[in-house]
Amino acid sequence: MALDPTLDRLIRDIPKVELHLHIEGTLEPEMVFELAARHGVALPHSSVGALRAAYEFGDLQSFLDLYYAGCDVLRDESDFHAMALAYFERAHRDGVIHAELFFDPQTHTGRGVPMEVVIGGLRRAMDDARSRYGITSELILCFLRHLPEEDAFATLDQALPFLDQLVGVGLDSGERGNPPSKFERVFAAARSHGLRPVAHAGEEGPASYVREALDLLGAERIDHGVRCVEDDGLVERLVRDQVALTACPLSNIKLRVFPEMEQHNLVALLRRGLRVTVNSDDPAYFGGYIAANFRAVARALPIGAADVLRLCENAARAAFVPDAARADLLARIRGAVH
Ligand code: HPA
Ligand code: ZN
Repeated sequence: MALDPTLDRLIRDIPKVELHLHIEGTLEPEMVFELAARHGVALPHSSVGALRAAYEFGDLQSFLDLYYAGCDVLRDESDFHAMALAYFERAHRDGVIHAELFFDPQTHTGRGVPMEVVIGGLRRAMDDARSRYGITSELILCFLRHLPEEDAFATLDQALPFLDQLVGVGLDSGERGNPPSKFERVFAAARSHGLRPVAHAGEEGPASYVREALDLLGAERIDHGVRCVEDDGLVERLVRDQVALTACPLSNIKLRVFPEMEQHNLVALLRRGLRVTVNSDDPAYFGGYIAANFRAVARALPIGAADVLRLCENAARAAFVPDAARADLLARIRGAVH
């Protein structure tokens, strides 16, 4: 479906808040090759084109295998800085004014890259993004749910010296067979340190994982969460408590959570009163950054300017920022609509 030019302009211009973005998922094939050459890392793909052509996924796990392999080229502080700065440059072009970045420290510490190298490079890029582009940002440390609870505890321990540089903790990686309950204790420990909990749930996993994320982890936002529709009582609760769902439309198509964008339930969920937001997840792998996600939705689903505004406001409402900053984000978003 062709995109109405007025809606297209609004999508381009409206200030955006991104709440579901894996910074390692912004590593574009060109940068994979650049960093591999710098560090003398041998790659299984012969060219940038061959790597990009491999981005055809049957499910979440087939994506994760490539995503973790790609991370192997991230070796020193300047690599993390370069990757994150490249994201912010693209985000700025897309009108992002605030971003909350997930990172997966275990993917790096497991290869011998220290926590301080990871956080140091990311934080330096976040400072640059603020001074160059006026983008504010926060960091959310994600535990890899396919690994044991004790590894998550060790990761939390390693992060304690950097507590003031983190806003929250999340839960990602392969969902099926790794329920939130596995991480109840480590989330309690993280909360006791003032970290705000979020969790991926209801992407490939069942609605019961969304309930567990709320009840056992205290999750303040649900990442993806689209399978909540399988439980009417849960939907009512998410509406009542205005728990944000950080939807990632292009990701859901690439990973076959929905067969086509026309079948995505994001607009239906919005109509039911859920606090839905639009985000880019792993944009280097899924074919587009946040504005492309909005455009893909607007092409396939019945949404108008008021819905785009609502989706952007929802993200500002759900951001982990102080009240004054939230009021500023909301005012800037509303200022784009006349
Ligand atoms: N789902 C779960 N884990 C992830 C994802 C995702 O989309 N991206 C990076 N880690
Ligand atoms: Zn994700």
